[in-house]
Amino acid sequence: MKLYAISDLHVGAGANLEGLRDLAYHPEDWLILAGDVGETTAQLRSVLALCVERFREVVWVPGNHELWTSRGESARGQAKYEELVAVCRSFGVHTPEDPYPVFQGTSGRYRIAPLFILYDYSFRPPDVPRKKVVEWAMEQGVLCADEVFLWSEPFPSREDWCWSRVRYSEARLEDACRHDDLVLVNHFPLMRDLVWIPSIPRFAPWCGTTMTADWHRRFRAKVVVSGHLHVRRTDWLDGVRFEEVSLGNPRQWRQELGVNHYLREILPGPVDAAEGPGSAR
Ligand SMILES: [Fe+2]
Ligand SMILES: [Fe+2]
Repeated sequence: MKLYAISDLHVGAGANLEGLRDLAYHPEDWLILAGDVGETTAQLRSVLALCVERFREVVWVPGNHELWTSRGESARGQAKYEELVAVCRSFGVHTPEDPYPVFQGTSGRYRIAPLFILYDYSFRPPDVPRKKVVEWAMEQGVLCADEVFLWSEPFPSREDWCWSRVRYSEARLEDACRHDDLVLVNHFPLMRDLVWIPSIPRFAPWCGTTMTADWHRRFRAKVVVSGHLHVRRTDWLDGVRFEEVSLGNPRQWRQELGVNHYLREILPGPVDAAEGPGSAR
């Protein structure tokens, strides 16, 4: 029994949806979908229908793209999130609102903790104040589309939503790690040091929060899984493996290799993941 992960399927792109149709059957294994499945609730529904047929259990966390209110949709902010959670539950898919499932494999017993933490613009240089951070990014032509499509209501801002999610998740993780080692799953990386986006460094403010920097130690993480960056990497910090598992847009993966090539084995663990310096995949 294995635990696999993939993120950023972005099935709004035809080549990605086409590729996903070849997803192999893994009747004994579990799959983590680490966010950015697509932009609409209907896309999430169609991807989950395909995944639950092929895997024994599926675990989902939202990405920023799923949280968008796209054309033809009405639910915004928290209401959009709740709509997505309801779709997951209708397929028996685990969400950040459910009890953390126990994965018992050959490598031991772990609790899988799907998280929805969001970002708060704190990944920015110390001399750039929060109020200026979007302007600072735009100086290099960088602007995340979340500024237009990702609503935060009823929270006054995305930061407030993020901080509320941090408090909610901390309390649950404190309890869960008393019993088991954890696999933490969040669309956004938990540490600023893991933000590897050399082509667009000023995208960092939309990539996470400094409030989660010690969570891998504090909550006994065996592995931390994330996406969002569209730069597949394995990093080791404090003896913990961090896996960025994005598929990405069609230019960021090789269609001739097939989507199965991009399923990342999380547990027991891939053969190329011996502890060492970080590397792109
Ligand atoms: Fe993405
Ligand atoms: Fe994302």
